[in-house]
Amino acid sequence: MIYNNPFLGLSDFVAPIAMQGFVIAMIALVIIGTLIDIIHKKNVKYFFNNAKKAKKNAKIQLTTSQKTSVILRTVASDIATTSELGRGKRRVAHLLGMYGTILFWVGSVVMIFFYSNPTSETPSFWPMIWHVGALMTVIGGGWFWFFLRVDVYSEAQPWYRIIKADLFVLALIASSLTGLIWSYLQFLDLNDRWDDKVFLVLFVISNLVLFGGVYWSKFAHMFYKPGAAIQKNLAEADGSRDNLPPPADAPEQFGLGIKREEPKHY
Ligand code: HEM
Repeated sequence: MIYNNPFLGLSDFVAPIAMQGFVIAMIALVIIGTLIDIIHKKNVKYFFNNAKKAKKNAKIQLTTSQKTSVILRTVASDIATTSELGRGKRRVAHLLGMYGTILFWVGSVVMIFFYSNPTSETPSFWPMIWHVGALMTVIGGGWFWFFLRVDVYSEAQPWYRIIKADLFVLALIASSLTGLIWSYLQFLDLNDRWDDKVFLVLFVISNLVLFGGVYWSKFAHMFYKPGAAIQKNLAEADGSRDNLPPPADAPEQFGLGIKREEPKHY
């Protein structure tokens, strides 16, 4: 199954051009959703105004090479390894989901655009990337949703309580899980049975929700977070510290109470 390109099987009754059109429509939905989000929340405007204000308080004028080095360090740590999430399981779950999704999406685009023609032969690498990516996303996303969500982990809410904030993670898990099940059922070759078609429809619907729901979900954090991390690290390097006061010139003594329990009440 892991070497099966499900989009090749799909080309028996859906033209490759239609699949490619679907991918382009999903990319357009992401762009439109993010732009409406930016216009409505005015977050990017606030971000640039704040950065401009902070620049006035800069203690050092960073050279281009210093700025480049700060940006490269941010990409390697804050972005590529989501260091903001500390050392624990929250970070491991996020990395599994993040890289899983990237593999799954890259695999989908390559197979749909280059290997969905009935005459094409897919190198086994791409279906493998697609299946492994989907599995990583299901594991990372499921781990986060069932066990690590703040309202479940820290506020004792039951795991089955669903709110609007769960839209992104649930649609992400649904798209990779239904994709995996669809691929498995298609691989079983059940001769005109309906099972794989049902999961194909669910796969399409979950993608429509995931990419069509950008405005209402946390999807756009994957664009905002890297920008915010770069700005934060530049502000630290030039001494403006985002208009925040410098750390106190005193030892960090919080008393023994701080060791009683791992901080998890937000
Ligand atoms: C393909 C890229 C990415 C995917 C698929 C992804 C996926 C997710 C998911 C599913 C969540 C949980 C959302 C929720 O609260 O319900 C999340 C949260 C988060 N993401 Fe991402 N993410 C991506 C990129 C990034 C990047 C680049 C950063 C940072 C630079 C980042 C930082 C965070 C942070 C800080 C949280 C909050 C985690 C928590 O509450 O424990 N993400 N991400």
